[in-house]
Amino acid sequence: MFANRVTELLGVEIPIVQAPMGWIARAQLASAVSEAGAMGIIETSSGELDAVRDEIRKMRDLTDKPFGVNIAQAFVRDPAIVDFVISQGVRFVTTSAGSPTKYTAQLKDAGLTVFHVVPTLAAAQKAADAGVDGLIVEGGEGGGFKNPRPVASMVLLPLVVSRIDLPVIAAGGFLDGPTMAAAFALGAEGIQLGTRMVSAAESPIHDNWKQMIVDAAETDTVFLNQHTSPALRALRTEKTTGLEFDTERNAMVEMLNLRDLYFGGDMEAAIALCGQVAGRIDAVRPVAEIIDECARDCLARIGDLARRYPADAGSVRSA
Ligand SMILES: Cc1cc2nc3c(=O)[nH]c(=O)nc-3n(C[C@H](O)[C@H](O)[C@H](O)COP(=O)(O)O)c2cc1C
Repeated sequence: MFANRVTELLGVEIPIVQAPMGWIARAQLASAVSEAGAMGIIETSSGELDAVRDEIRKMRDLTDKPFGVNIAQAFVRDPAIVDFVISQGVRFVTTSAGSPTKYTAQLKDAGLTVFHVVPTLAAAQKAADAGVDGLIVEGGEGGGFKNPRPVASMVLLPLVVSRIDLPVIAAGGFLDGPTMAAAFALGAEGIQLGTRMVSAAESPIHDNWKQMIVDAAETDTVFLNQHTSPALRALRTEKTTGLEFDTERNAMVEMLNLRDLYFGGDMEAAIALCGQVAGRIDAVRPVAEIIDECARDCLARIGDLARRYPADAGSVRSA
């Protein structure tokens, strides 16, 4: 149904990519995504490469469908990460948080398909020049580490698509059929789901985090560290509200107790990365339901619009 450059390059039926997320994007979540016909991704940003190797091994037991790996360059600084990823036999890799000139040639020479994550038009141009196969265009409303000058998907996506002829996966603000249809209308050929996947039943994080996403309003994220690096978008808690306009401290020092938050459920122990779409998520649901509904509702919405606004030749105004 979705046949396009992204489904072709990734070898998936449904052009939805589950976002890479440290400790979260592991086999339990990623295999559910791949089994649902979309693209599961295993993270390396935790830096726990032995654990990651085990997770990749588990993926092969849990699914025979395609999956990929992310190299978040700022978090895994050892260049051996590239040999590691190549040696795992995966066919698809996303690179992020670093220069696309660093690893693209080596990954492509090894036969992998490479998509690079970009937050600006200039970064997209640089990635295209480096020879990537495609782009993940990430708007500032998304969760995670961000460009300190965030640009919303509504502006960034059509801008990049109008200037660069590469397949684009839209990230930041997408979670359901209507938003997927909007991404397609703006020129993307796939979407990446971050926050929605954090909230999924198969996501390994503590229920307290999932419940906070379900309870969140659209105003319940904060954009931190704009004065320094890296900037990040996270759930609003007492801790993060205290950091919101603090230009003295680097919020990264508050990321040290991640495990207490991720798996212990203490939402004030660290910072829970999260996108504005939290305000639109109202239930914890299994991955298969999320992917299936997203794909079905996207096609239904596109069909409805085509029927309602037929593109007849001639004047767009009634006589
Ligand atoms: C908890 C969390 C961790 C993330 N970690 C990474 C990461 O390791 N590498 C990466 O490229 N992006 C990371 N991101 C960004 C996501 O890949 C994705 O692009 C973003 O969440 C999309 O926006 P959304 O939250 O609106 O879906 C993370 C996002 C979240 C919410």
